Amino acid sequence: MPAPSLTTKRLLLRRWKEEDLPLFAQMNADERVMQYFPSILSVEESNALAEKIQKELEEKEYGLWAVEVVDVAPFVGFVGLHDQDFPAAFTPCTEIGWRLDFEYWGNGYAFEAAQKVVEYAFDTLKLPEIVSFTTAANQRSRTLMKKLGMTYNPQDDFQHPKLAVNHPLRPHVLYRLGNPAISATKPKRKK
Ligand SMILES: CC(C)(COP(=O)(O)OP(=O)(O)OC[C@H]1O[C@@H](n2cnc3c(N)ncnc32)[C@H](O)[C@@H]1OP(=O)(O)O)[C@@H](O)C(=O)NCCC(=O)NCCS
Repeated sequence: MPAPSLTTKRLLLRRWKEEDLPLFAQMNADERVMQYFPSILSVEESNALAEKIQKELEEKEYGLWAVEVVDVAPFVGFVGLHDQDFPAAFTPCTEIGWRLDFEYWGNGYAFEAAQKVVEYAFDTLKLPEIVSFTTAANQRSRTLMKKLGMTYNPQDDFQHPKLAVNHPLRPHVLYRLGNPAISATKPKRKK
């Protein structure tokens, strides 16, 4: 089943459109947006990424939704869920992730979208846990994780296996959020 659209007070989280691609490429070429990624993306790389994301949203009930600010901006970036299975202590897992156009930072859009995605992940998909990770220096992203109620444990710090040893972005932090409905219904251990 393809992923449904999700709505919030100000936003529409939807599957991607052809018109999103040039705006996405612009974002991915912006050094400010890509500060904590190994490099900016070329138009070809950006389009290939968008195609991969769109395919996931068609095939699964979730993915990285395109975010539209209703009556304000037709495409401001993505927020959503993505399965990760690279070698790490916490994988396989479902990650919540985001990337917004610099012009739209500081409006609470990422938080508003992410709150909806968390609700969908727990209430509809019934996932037991979602995680989020980023390079340790990415304070904006870490602030968002904290605002969502995600918790950080330094024991979960890891070296991202897809980045070269000694790459400055390699040290990563992990934040976790458990589904309260599932933890609440877990059978209690007998004494
Ligand atoms: C991470 C990222 C999505 C955060 O975007 P953001 O706009 O800062 O995040 P939020 O939606 O939580 O907005 C928070 C800001 O909006 C402000 N704000 C304004 N109106 C608001 C509202 N109605 N509700 C909530 N916050 C509001 C807050 O005061 C806060 O500003 P501050 O951080 O200057 O104090 C963005 O920085 C980004 O795309 N970064 C590049 C990509 C990236 O690094 N992704 C993560 C890789 S792991």
